[in-house]
Amino acid sequence: MPKSYKVAILGATGAVGTELIQLLEDRNFPIADLTLLASPRSAGQLLSFKGESLPIDVVGDRSFDGIDLVLASAGGSTSKQWASKIVAAGAVMVDNSSAFRMQLDVPLVVPEVNPQAAASHRGIIANPNCTTILMNVAVYPLHQVQPVQRIVAATYQSASGAGARAMEEVKIQSRAILQGDPPVPEIFPYPLAFNLFPHNSPLNENGYCEEELKMVNETRKIFNAPDLRITATCIRVPVLRAHSEAINIEFEHPFSVAEARERLSQAPGVKLVEDWQANYFPMPLDAAGQDDVLVGRIRQDISHPNGLELWLSGDQIRKGAALNAVQIAELLVAHDWLHPAEAAIGVGANLG
Ligand code: A2P
Repeated sequence: MPKSYKVAILGATGAVGTELIQLLEDRNFPIADLTLLASPRSAGQLLSFKGESLPIDVVGDRSFDGIDLVLASAGGSTSKQWASKIVAAGAVMVDNSSAFRMQLDVPLVVPEVNPQAAASHRGIIANPNCTTILMNVAVYPLHQVQPVQRIVAATYQSASGAGARAMEEVKIQSRAILQGDPPVPEIFPYPLAFNLFPHNSPLNENGYCEEELKMVNETRKIFNAPDLRITATCIRVPVLRAHSEAINIEFEHPFSVAEARERLSQAPGVKLVEDWQANYFPMPLDAAGQDDVLVGRIRQDISHPNGLELWLSGDQIRKGAALNAVQIAELLVAHDWLHPAEAAIGVGANLG
């Protein structure tokens, strides 16, 4: 009999949590039992899974007893609060928050890039930052051909990265503006409807915001390239659920557009979207709801002989968060890496 697992979703009512439920159902993840956890605010709510209505439980000390796998997307402080209980209960936590991403003994995994890293977990695996995942899926196939020397990225990030209430806020502000009323910011610091602003994460002393530094530090960890030079400017735009990114990549030697296109057309998790005659390239509305990262507008950088430019859009809630987490869970199950003792034996296993 194929194995099936007891799975819990921590943050089940959120933008990523609800997508996790849908993906587990759509991808037929082998589930024996699904527990949905959130804060007391959601007590008594019901969510549907495989035609059944499941209650939301308020997360507590006994929530993880007997659970094999926890998919967490309830923010960094909630992850930190429950991580040791989850691991002590013998479950593996795939954590969507930034709480553990840069910890040395926590693998940071994009399955298209470093699947084998998941094998070495000790109870926690971190799901990378959404903008980082999307960029990594598009850049890594080129990095495999010729190591990237430097990346310059500019992002156009949707409201979904700040959660379900932030998405609602953009809709409410849009309606208000169209009716001639002032837009009222509550989740974001400024009105996002009909506007944009530099990413609202805390600013570092060097002038970079945390989101930008996540792209830098997490990519280095995922690519296992500690010296990779990366700079980014992250901007929030009034789009609901897909991020877009303009990426300039510098290689050691010239990298032809034709070869880049060829590589990306075969890369896992990438869909080439390029109709030069129609000026039709990746757009967030097209990327919304899709698993693949849409990549296009691949062109030679006219300012540098070894530079390429590309443009991408990818669903922030799916590949940027929930889908990547479920793919990590699928890796764990496929390779029997769920339990750390077995995981240690699994290091270096042939991923095929
Ligand atoms: P709740 O809906 O009960 O507040 P989003 O990222 O879309 O804002 O969603 C955040 C998710 O994290 C929601 O499911 C939210 O539950 C959950 N959450 C937030 N804070 C806590 C907490 N302290 N304990 C448990 N779940 C939490």
